[in-house]
Amino acid sequence: MIRKPFVPSSCALKKRSHSNSPLAMSDEQERWKALIRHMFAQAERNRANHTEGTADDHGPEVGLLASEYGGKAFPKEALEQLLKQMLQRLGNSEGLQGSLSSVLSSLAPNSQLHQLIDSYLREHSMEALIIQAKAELASLQRRQDWEASKARFLGPNGSLRTFMKGLQQLPPDQRPAFGQKINAIKIALESLFSDKLKAIEGDLLRQQLPLPVDITLRPRTSANGCLHPLTQLRHRIDDIFHRMGYTIADGSEIETEWFCFDALNTPPNHPARNEQDTFYLPPDIPVGNVSRREKERYLLRSHTSTVQIRTMLSEHPPLSIVSRGRVFRRDTPDATHSANFHQYEGLRVDRQISFADLKNTLFFFLKELFGDTIRIRLRPSFFPFTEPSFEVDIQSPSMGKLSHQWIEVLGCGMVDPEVFRAVDYDPQAWNGFAFGIGLERIAIFLYGLEDVRHFYRNDQRFLKQFA
Ligand code: PHE
Repeated sequence: MIRKPFVPSSCALKKRSHSNSPLAMSDEQERWKALIRHMFAQAERNRANHTEGTADDHGPEVGLLASEYGGKAFPKEALEQLLKQMLQRLGNSEGLQGSLSSVLSSLAPNSQLHQLIDSYLREHSMEALIIQAKAELASLQRRQDWEASKARFLGPNGSLRTFMKGLQQLPPDQRPAFGQKINAIKIALESLFSDKLKAIEGDLLRQQLPLPVDITLRPRTSANGCLHPLTQLRHRIDDIFHRMGYTIADGSEIETEWFCFDALNTPPNHPARNEQDTFYLPPDIPVGNVSRREKERYLLRSHTSTVQIRTMLSEHPPLSIVSRGRVFRRDTPDATHSANFHQYEGLRVDRQISFADLKNTLFFFLKELFGDTIRIRLRPSFFPFTEPSFEVDIQSPSMGKLSHQWIEVLGCGMVDPEVFRAVDYDPQAWNGFAFGIGLERIAIFLYGLEDVRHFYRNDQRFLKQFA
């Protein structure tokens, strides 16, 4: 587009030689003001029409003016102030910058005007980036727009990048200060953008929230949590044995064959040791906290009786301990079987423990748990680690359909001398009794349940009945 050079009408430019400008300072000032006003108006028009100003929008006019005054002294402060106002109002208008750049290119590099505009551009147009970014961000609402805007300012082809490129063209002594400035502006821009992103994301989150929620309102139902019914039962039984002077002993769920079988007088050919009955771990698996003998296999304990052995090895008699925990059997889960369940084991060792002590202890325990009205009977049975051995049955009038049946609740017996020998207790000096209770089994009868799997399903409808 060919346009007539702009000449401020109030003070038309005349060609004159640099050496003898007769214009008074105030006239010069007026010319600059008029020129700048014109540039200002033009840039605003561009912006309103959404067209980008181009570098030579004002080039001819400014160039003309500059060629007139470029080599001379001129009202520096007035010009500076005008440029400042203009930049603040227009932000980083490319048209304006282009204009000023074209002024520069038409000026003698060492002229005062060149230096002034050059340093002004460097100092203030970068700050104008911040003003412009603020204005642009204020009206943004969507993340896509935020991204596009960020790219325009901070992206690889963004405005800040242009300044960085300019850094190389500066004389070396000016580079550090300019570099610091770029950095400061970059940090300021980045924080503007990250604040805005937080705001956009916050808005988005608020929109996604279903309804405003008053977190100070009291809940309508009070859903108190509770201990698992098996834990509750364990605590009840703990309480009974505490009263009889028992303490709690612990063992690990991974065990060695020796603790689970050999030490408990269960020989290698015993069916309980069968691959089909017990979970053996792969031979090369490292189990840091459970030591084993050479060639011995690790397994998941099939009963808590392992803890009898561990305790007797680490403590001196007399002993009254209970040991409770998870045990494992190769059972197919159904209403009455589970591949893991919980046992409650007891062991008492002293100098003169008799079968009467065993009977007293278990009768007291069962009556505390099921009530005084129960009947109890002992049936002869067999366990490798007790001799004699018994199963204990109860009959309870409060058990509904089952009240006329004998129900087996635990196994027990007098500790076999072989077990004492395995742990280096003198079987002539010490004797004792042991018992093992299946917690799930007791819980099923106590609470009147029909299926052991309820305990493992985490079904709130089941569990909350125990709250
Ligand atoms: N350990 C036995 C079992 O798992 C129970 C038991 C423990 C029997 C102690 C007697 C003495 O069946």
